[in-house]
Amino acid sequence: MQFGHFDDARREYVITTPRTPLPWINYLGSERFFTLLSNTAGGYSFYLDARLRRLTRYRYNNAPLDSEGFHIYVKDGESVWNPGWQPVQADLDSYVCRHGLGYTVIEGAKGGVRAEQTLFVPLGGDCLLMRLRVTNESGAEKRLSVFPYIEFCLWDAMDDSSNFQRNFSTGEVEIEGAAIYHKTEYRERRDHYAVFWADRVPDGFDTAREKFLGTYGSPARPAAVFGAGCTGSVAHGWQPIAAQQFDLTLAPGASETIIFGLGYVENPREEKWEAPGVVNKTRAREMAARCASPAQFDAALEALAAYWDGLLGRYQVSSGEEKLDRMVNIWNQYQCMVTFNMSRSASYFESGMGRGMGFRDSCQDLLGFVHMIPERARARILDIAATQFPDGSAYHQYQPLTKKGNLDVGSGFNDDPLWLIAGVDAYLRETGDFGILDEIVPFDNDESLSQPLLEHLRRSFRFTKTHLGPHGLPLIGRADWNDCLNLNCFSEHPGESFQITGPSEGPVAESVFIGGMFVKYGRAWAAICRRVGLMEEADEAEAAVSRMEQAVLTAGWDGAWFRRAYDAFGQVVGGKECEEGQIFIEPQGMCVMAGIGKDSGQAAQALESVKERLDTKYGIVLLQPAYTRYHLELGEISSYPPGYKENAGIFCHNNPWIIAAETVVGHGDRAFDLYSRIAPAWREEISDLHKMEPYVYSQMIAGKDAKNFGQAKNSWLTGTAAWNFYVISQYILGVKPDWDGLKIDPCIPAGWDGYKISRSFRNAVYDIRIENPGHVCRGVKRVTADGREISGNVLPVFSDGRTHEVVVTLG
Ligand code: BGC
Ligand code: NOJ
Repeated sequence: MQFGHFDDARREYVITTPRTPLPWINYLGSERFFTLLSNTAGGYSFYLDARLRRLTRYRYNNAPLDSEGFHIYVKDGESVWNPGWQPVQADLDSYVCRHGLGYTVIEGAKGGVRAEQTLFVPLGGDCLLMRLRVTNESGAEKRLSVFPYIEFCLWDAMDDSSNFQRNFSTGEVEIEGAAIYHKTEYRERRDHYAVFWADRVPDGFDTAREKFLGTYGSPARPAAVFGAGCTGSVAHGWQPIAAQQFDLTLAPGASETIIFGLGYVENPREEKWEAPGVVNKTRAREMAARCASPAQFDAALEALAAYWDGLLGRYQVSSGEEKLDRMVNIWNQYQCMVTFNMSRSASYFESGMGRGMGFRDSCQDLLGFVHMIPERARARILDIAATQFPDGSAYHQYQPLTKKGNLDVGSGFNDDPLWLIAGVDAYLRETGDFGILDEIVPFDNDESLSQPLLEHLRRSFRFTKTHLGPHGLPLIGRADWNDCLNLNCFSEHPGESFQITGPSEGPVAESVFIGGMFVKYGRAWAAICRRVGLMEEADEAEAAVSRMEQAVLTAGWDGAWFRRAYDAFGQVVGGKECEEGQIFIEPQGMCVMAGIGKDSGQAAQALESVKERLDTKYGIVLLQPAYTRYHLELGEISSYPPGYKENAGIFCHNNPWIIAAETVVGHGDRAFDLYSRIAPAWREEISDLHKMEPYVYSQMIAGKDAKNFGQAKNSWLTGTAAWNFYVISQYILGVKPDWDGLKIDPCIPAGWDGYKISRSFRNAVYDIRIENPGHVCRGVKRVTADGREISGNVLPVFSDGRTHEVVVTLG
């Protein structure tokens, strides 16, 4: 069952009922100001950091769901409704929500009135714009009132949701003309305020929530809307809001448009006030003047469309398979940009208060966005590297606003360092910009500890190399990629964090997975060394990689698949002698991607075991058999009920590792089959089961051991986005940025006749036609560029700003 459909021409997902299984959201904003917006106009805004600069409130576990946001009430006589249905939930005569690239349009109609709400964040502006267009479609004059309503957050979302003894006394606002200024704490250390404005002076307003909603009222039945209108309240403490009232008289067929804005303004300290106690509003007025008129609104919306054309245009496929094209050309790339902006900070599952920017997360996200925004990827790499410790280990997370490592979680996740190499390697291949390696970057954000980026990579590699356990495999520390495999934790008390309980390092527990990573990214490090003339260091690195490869093939091999780890007692995790958790997905994917066991047949055998033991119709589960009880020696992984999350859920992030691994052994049919099992466009038809948005990946789909097998959770912010784009674009469709050019090496279903790709790469466009006359999965027989045959399968770096015609014949 579906709740909408894709409109590929407009690059939109069109939702045709407000009663989606869960709120289906979009992300507005691509620079500093962001808004999460659901299909019924729920959501919230923040500036840069969803924890430290939250502009509006959102309650995650509220009932009814999703009732805070950017709602507009339409009052038509006795009838009160919202174009997005929520929060009044009055039945609408028609409803549609179009989530597009960086904008959303919600349109509802009732009783002869149509109201359309268009929201986006303009490029270069620290604000959300919202246009309301109300049309009288009836045959008689209509006297209506419309009311926009938002609830301010008192900036630090964590304090805002916990420190009520203070919060209920601090709230302050100012009202001037068409604008409401939220200035809580501005009197003391804050130099910023929020402003909500309209393009005309309203007929009424409220800024105290208890006046607009009523003390015991709710957004579903605001006292002011259902009663006598706004009261002109001025908030002193309690809950400051911005609500306005506009009375409209519409002749039959007539429309009215009102443009609103929600902005964030920072003032230099010496320019804070325009009079004692009165906020200096100059910048807010300028902001509103830049985008208040309908023409400015349209122009900003067009600029946004052009921005997305530019980003997505850098990789476009035309395959004849509609679902594949819409994933690759639109939604997967779009989601990659959202993960660039958000990392793991703010979604409808990530509260914005918790995880900020993940070290490993953002490094992996790079794989998915580096081709679209190489310059911003460069800056991101430098930010991430600056949170690394001098010994090569890293803060697991950092705050986007301060860019400082998060002390609460600290470090000790021993896969983190190697992901930095993965991210930089992807950047170098995309751009050829080796100059980045000379950039001077602090360790632990301490300028006095600055070193070139190359040194950061060296220490990443060295950290793993010098933290090995009894089998010569890397020590796992607090956990590796699998945050829930906590082999040094031994937590017995409820409420203890699995992330920080126990020692951050143990001398015994080892990770086969990090061993695979060390082989894969250790080789990348060695190649970088060679490129910059460090031949001896490259040789040493390769020798260490070979030793690791041996360790993985011996201590890490279980007979038919790669083991997962050794626990703190030296017992195997992920082996046939285990009672539960005999086989895990991660090492099969990572080790085979690293090429381990490719020649000896172990790689193919490991993948066969995955097929036999971990396959389901909805994707590959993380492990089998699921843990049915809590294992003290394993930690959080066994805390989840069977089939959920890391305990045998279909953890979508590492499905593409298996997909890539299948291409390493040449299985194009299997690779694409696995790709389509988890790709949202294919799952759209089962949206009622899947529950999450059908246009983006979710972190997890419940596995076969779960009651809700097939139901997804944690949409949007997941490494799944980057890895799937990386795998479909590079491993399956086979266009891989390489050191000296664009390498063409597809691995596709044998049945495919061919496809076309347009790829921008280092200042040239490659228009590539791939033909598969012999119906093979893999193998490039002939390549021509601009009519001339090329030897090998690497297209040169043209770098001439031109478009080049490339024809590739497989066989
Ligand atoms: C995992 C969660 C876990 C969390 C702890 C995440 O990476 O996916 O299952 O609870 O880490 O912070
Ligand atoms: C989600 C986290 O963001 C990521 O860092 C981790 O690798 C996976 N969960 C698996 O635990």
